[in-house]
Amino acid sequence: MDKKATLKLPDGRDLEFPVLGGSIGPEVIDIRSLYGKSGMFTYDPGFMSTASCNSTITYIDGDAGVLLYRGYPIEQLAKHCDFLDVCYLLLNGELPNKPQRDEFVGTVMRHTMVHDQLNRFYMGFRRDAHPMAVMVGVVGALSAFYHDSLDISDPEHRRVAAFRLIAKMPTIVAMAYKYTVGQPFVYPRNNLSYTGNFMNMMFSLPVEDYKVNNVLERALDRILILHADHEQNASTSTVRLSGSSGANPFACIAAGIACLWGPAHGGANEAALGMLQDIQKAGGVAKVGEFIKQVKDKNSNVKLMGFGHRVYKNYDPRAKLMRETCHEVLNELGLHDDPLFKLAMAMEKIALEDDYFVSRKLYPNVDFYSGIVQRALGIPVSMFTCIFSLARTVGWIAQWQEMIGDPEYKIGRPRQLYRGAVKRDVKPIGQR
Ligand code: CMC
Repeated sequence: MDKKATLKLPDGRDLEFPVLGGSIGPEVIDIRSLYGKSGMFTYDPGFMSTASCNSTITYIDGDAGVLLYRGYPIEQLAKHCDFLDVCYLLLNGELPNKPQRDEFVGTVMRHTMVHDQLNRFYMGFRRDAHPMAVMVGVVGALSAFYHDSLDISDPEHRRVAAFRLIAKMPTIVAMAYKYTVGQPFVYPRNNLSYTGNFMNMMFSLPVEDYKVNNVLERALDRILILHADHEQNASTSTVRLSGSSGANPFACIAAGIACLWGPAHGGANEAALGMLQDIQKAGGVAKVGEFIKQVKDKNSNVKLMGFGHRVYKNYDPRAKLMRETCHEVLNELGLHDDPLFKLAMAMEKIALEDDYFVSRKLYPNVDFYSGIVQRALGIPVSMFTCIFSLARTVGWIAQWQEMIGDPEYKIGRPRQLYRGAVKRDVKPIGQR
C-alpha cells in the first residue's frame, strides 16, 4: 500500500501527502500539493529538511560516513580508479570497460585546447586578481566562444558541452595560475594523463624539462576523485537552479564556481591552510590551546576551518583518504617533519578530545588535509579552490544533465515568509 503522511492544519483539517522512498536513505514527504490544498508554504532556510530533486548520482550517509558515486564507495574508487574513470561513471552511471574508457579518454583529450582568442581574455585581468575571480569570468566567457554547444534542448550540444568543460578546465585553471605568476601559458599535451597534463601545464617552463612525479600525480588525481561530486551541496544546487531557467551550461558552471568560492564551501581549504599558517607564525603548536579557546568563544567569530560539515556528523570519508594521501606525499617529498603538518595533527588531536567539538559532532573534513597536500605539491594557496572547481565540474555537469533529462524538472522558484512592511503609501519627500 502507498505510504501517506498526515498533516494537521491550524484550521483543524487533516491533509494527506504521499511518502516517497528512494533506493537508500530517508524517505521524503511529497508536499508539492501543499500550497494548493492549504494556502501555506513550508519554511526551511538552508534546506535542512528539504530534498530539492531526485537523483541517481551520489549518495551520502552523513551519520555512517558513507559516500557513494553511482553506488560505488569512494574508498574503492579512490583505490582502483582514476579521475577519468570517475568522470565516465558520474556522467554515464557505469564504470567504463576498456574500449569505452579508451574512447572517452580520447574524446576528452581531443578537447583540451581552448580557443586561442581566449588567451587574450586573461590579459584583461589584473595580475594580482584572485584566480577564482579569473575562473568565474573565463568559464562564463566560454559561452561566447562555443556557440555550437549552447542549445540545451539538443542532447548532442549537451554532450559536447560536457566534454568541453571537463577537458578545458585543467587548461583554464593552469592558465589562471600562469597569468598570476607572469609565466607563459603552456599548451596541453595529449600524450600525458589528464592529471599529468594538468601538472605539466601548471609547472613546466619553456626553459627546462618537467617530469611528472607518479606519486604526486596520483595524489592530485585522488584530490580530483574525492571532490568530483557531493550530491546537492551549495554549488551544485546553484548550478541546478541556474540551469533550471534554461541558461547555457558554461554560464551555469560559472555560477557554480562563484558559489564554490565561499569560505564555508570550496574556499575552506584555502582558509584552513591560512589558519594553520597564522598559528604557525604566532608560535606554532604551543599556540594551539589558545586558538581553540578562541574558537570556542561564541563572541570571537573564529571557526576551526576544515572542521565540521552540514552532512557528515561522524567522520568525512574523504578526510580519511586525504589524510592517507597527505602521509604519502610528505614521505615522497621528504617532508614528514613539515611543521604545518605537525601543527595540523596537534590541532586535530586536541579538537577530537575536546567536548565542544565532540558534543557538536565536529570532525575534520576533506579540506583540513587537502590544503597541506596541495601546498606540498607546490600549488599556491590561492589556487586551491580553482582545483576544487576543476574536480567538481564533472559533478556539476552530471547533475545538470540529469536535471534536464528529468520529466519533473521545472524552473526553481523558492517561496518566502514575508516579514516586511505591509502595504503603505509613498509620502512626498518633505513629509518622510
Ligand atoms: N569551528 C567551530 N565551531 C563550529 C564549526 C567550526 N568549524 N563548525 C560548526 N561549528 C559549531 C557552530 O558554531 C554551531 O555551534 P552552536 O550549536 O553552539 O551554535 C554548531 O557547531 C553547529 O554548526 P552549524 O553552523 O549549525 O553547522 P552547519 O551544518 O550549518 O555548518 C559548515 C557546516 C561546514 C558550514 C561549518 O561546520 C563550517 O563553517 N566549517 C568550517 C568551514 C569548512 O571547513 N567548510 C568545508 C566543508 S567541506 C567542503 C565542502 O563540502 O564544501
